[in-house]
Amino acid sequence: MEVLDQDIPGLSVNDTASLVNPIMHFLSTALLLGSVAIQHVLGRAGASRQPLLLKRSVDSFIGTETPIALEQLLCNIGSDGCNAQGAASGAVIASPSKQDPDYFYTWTRDSALVFKATVDRFTTQYDAGLQRHIQEYIASQAKLQGISDPSGSLSDGQGLGEPKYNADLTAFTGAWGRPQRDGPALRAIAMITYANWLVQNGYTSTASTIVWPVVQNDLNYVAQYWNRTGFDLWEEVNGSSFFTVASQYRGKIPSSSKTPASGPLWLTRRQALIDGGNLASTLGKPATSYTAVAPQILCFLQTFWDSSGGYARANINVNNGRAGKDANTILASIHSFDPKLGCDAATFQPCSDKALSNHKATVDSFRTYKINSGLGKGKAAAVGRYSEDVYYNGNPWYLATLAAAEQLYDALYVWKQAGSVAVTDTSLAFFQDLVPGAAKGTYASGSAAFTSIVDAVSAYADGFVNIVATYAAANGSLAEQFSKDDGHPMSARDLTWSYAAFLTAAARRAGVVPPSWANDKATSGPGTCSATSVVGSYSSATATSFPPSQTPSTGVPPTSVTSSTTGSHPSTTTTSTTTSSCQAATSVAVTFKELVTTKYGQTIKIVGNTGALGNWDTSKAVALEASEYTSSNPLWKGTVTLPAGQVIEYKYINVNTDGSVTWEKDPNHTYTVPKSCATSATQSDKWQA
Ligand code: NOJ
Ligand code: NOJ
Repeated sequence: MEVLDQDIPGLSVNDTASLVNPIMHFLSTALLLGSVAIQHVLGRAGASRQPLLLKRSVDSFIGTETPIALEQLLCNIGSDGCNAQGAASGAVIASPSKQDPDYFYTWTRDSALVFKATVDRFTTQYDAGLQRHIQEYIASQAKLQGISDPSGSLSDGQGLGEPKYNADLTAFTGAWGRPQRDGPALRAIAMITYANWLVQNGYTSTASTIVWPVVQNDLNYVAQYWNRTGFDLWEEVNGSSFFTVASQYRGKIPSSSKTPASGPLWLTRRQALIDGGNLASTLGKPATSYTAVAPQILCFLQTFWDSSGGYARANINVNNGRAGKDANTILASIHSFDPKLGCDAATFQPCSDKALSNHKATVDSFRTYKINSGLGKGKAAAVGRYSEDVYYNGNPWYLATLAAAEQLYDALYVWKQAGSVAVTDTSLAFFQDLVPGAAKGTYASGSAAFTSIVDAVSAYADGFVNIVATYAAANGSLAEQFSKDDGHPMSARDLTWSYAAFLTAAARRAGVVPPSWANDKATSGPGTCSATSVVGSYSSATATSFPPSQTPSTGVPPTSVTSSTTGSHPSTTTTSTTTSSCQAATSVAVTFKELVTTKYGQTIKIVGNTGALGNWDTSKAVALEASEYTSSNPLWKGTVTLPAGQVIEYKYINVNTDGSVTWEKDPNHTYTVPKSCATSATQSDKWQA
C-alpha cells in the first residue's frame, strides 16, 4: 500500500522465529553465569569511577577491542572469512551461529551497514585487504540483485526489497517479514561512498562502468517504492519505519546542480558528491528522478515526530500497540550524520535538539531493565531495540548501546567544530539530566557552560561504551544481545553488525567522521507532502571485475610496510605487517598456518603455554580449519588474539575422531607477538615429524 493515503494497516508481526526455546535459554544462562559474575563486579566498580578514570578504562577497552572487532568482522565475510566457510565471495553472514538463532544468512541491511563502516574506514586509511573485500562485496550484490526471490524479481525492481539470502547467494524461500525497504538504500550508500573514493582518486571509469549500474538499480528502487509500507529493520512491523525513510532520504538527497562539473569546479563538486543524485551528476548519469523524489521523502520524515513526547515515533501507518520509542531512531540519526549539516533537525542530525530529546526519551525507556536499575537519569544505560520487545525475552543489544554512544560522539564533534552548543526548549530536558541547572541558550566554546556540557556529554557517551566493555565476553566477542538481568551475552554470537557498530563508535570518539553526503543545509522539504513515485528501469549489472591496483592517487601510504623475516627454526617463517603512523596495537590477531598432511576425520589444533592456547591442556587446544587444504598445499589455519609483545611457546597436535592425540616432535615453537601498530600477523609452520 502507499503510505500517504492515511490507511492504517493492522498489526502485523512476522511469525518466524518468534518462539524461542526456553530450555535452551535457561541452559545458556546457567553456563555463562560463572564468567559474567566476575565481569559484573568489575563493571560495578567501573560505573562509579570519576569521568577521568572512566575515560581511561574506555580508552583501554577500545585499544584492546579494535583489532578483535576488525578481525572478527572480516571472519564473517566469505569466501575466506575464518567463520564464514560456505559463504560466497563478498557475502557477509549476520553471525556464524547456525542455530538458536540461525543467522548463517546474508541480510542486505546488515551487510550494507558493515560495508558502510568498512568503506568509511578504507577512505581514511588505504588498505588493500579491505579494498579487495569491498570489490567482492559489490560484485556479490550485483549478483543478488539479479536473482528472483520471494519479494519479486529485478524486472520491476521488487526483488531488491528481499531482506535476506542464503550465504551462497541463492534465494531464501522460507516465511519472513518481507519486503524490507531499507536494504537497497543502505547498500546504495555504502557503494556510493566507494564510488566517490574511486572518482576522487582518478578511477571515474570504474565508478561509472562497474559501481554505478549496481547503485542505479537500488536508487531506482527507492525512487519507485519509498512510499510503500514494508517491514521495519527489526523485521516485525509492517508499516512505515523512521529508520527506513531516513536511509532512503540520505540515499537520494539531490545535488544542487545537475550539470556534471568540470574544470576548476570539479574538485568542489567531487568533495560533495556522496548521495545518489550527486554521484549521478558527477558521472554524467540522469539524476532527475532522484532530485524530484528527495524533498518528498524529507517531508514525510517530519511526520514521525511526536512533539508532546519529544521523540520520533519508530513506526507509523501501523497500529501495533507500542509507544514508538525505539533504537531505530538513534540508528537513523547516526546513519544520517553529516558534519556539514551542523545540528539540522529536519535530517535528524545527532546534535539537533530533536535527536537529543529523542535520545533521552529512547534511553529512558530502557531504564526498567534490571541491569540498569539504580543508575538514575543522565547515567548511561544498556539500550535495547524497544521496551516492549519479546525476542529472547527482550534484552539490551550491543549495537543499540553503541549507537547511543555514537550519536553523542557525533554531536560533540560538531559542537567542537562549530565552537558552540545550543540548548533549546526541545533539548532542555536532555541537557538538564547531565548538567543540573542547564538553561536555554547558546554557549560559545571557552565559556564555563560550554565546557561543562561538553565534559558531561563526553562522560555520558563513554558510559555507554563502558557498558559494552562490562558486558562483552571476556575474549572480546560481541554477540547480538546481553541479558537485561545479569548482562551475560545472548542470542547470536559474533554478530557482524555488533563489530561494525563498535568500530564506528570508536572512530567517532577519536574524531574520525564519515565523508559528507549532503551539499547544502537541508530544509524540511515542501509544505505539503505528496507521494511522488518514479517508475524506474532495472538491469542486471554484469561487469563486476575490478581492474587491479586501484591505489590512492597520492600513492600507497609509505607508512605501510610488510616485513618478512625467517625465524631460527628452519620450518618457520614469520611475517608481520606494520603500519607506523598509527596507534600501537595492544593485541594482535595472529593467524597460525600449519602445513601438515592429515587423514579424513583428523583435526589439527594448536596448544601452548598461554590461556588463549589452552595452557598445554589438549582438551582446550584451539582447532584450526582446513578450508584451503589441498593435497599439494595441506594448509591448516586459525587465528588467535594475543597481547602484543607476549612471548609464547606452542605446538601443533593432530586429534583423531576418538579423541586420541599425536603431538609434533620437539622442540616447542617459540613466537614473539609483534609489538607495533600491526593488529594482525601471520606465523607459518610445518609439522615437525
Ligand atoms: C527474527 C528477526 O530477525 C527478529 O528481528 C525478530 O524479532 C524475530 N524474528 C521475531 O519475529
Ligand atoms: C535480527 C535483527 O532484528 C535484524 O535487524 C537483523 O537484520 C537480523 N537479526 C540479522 O542480524
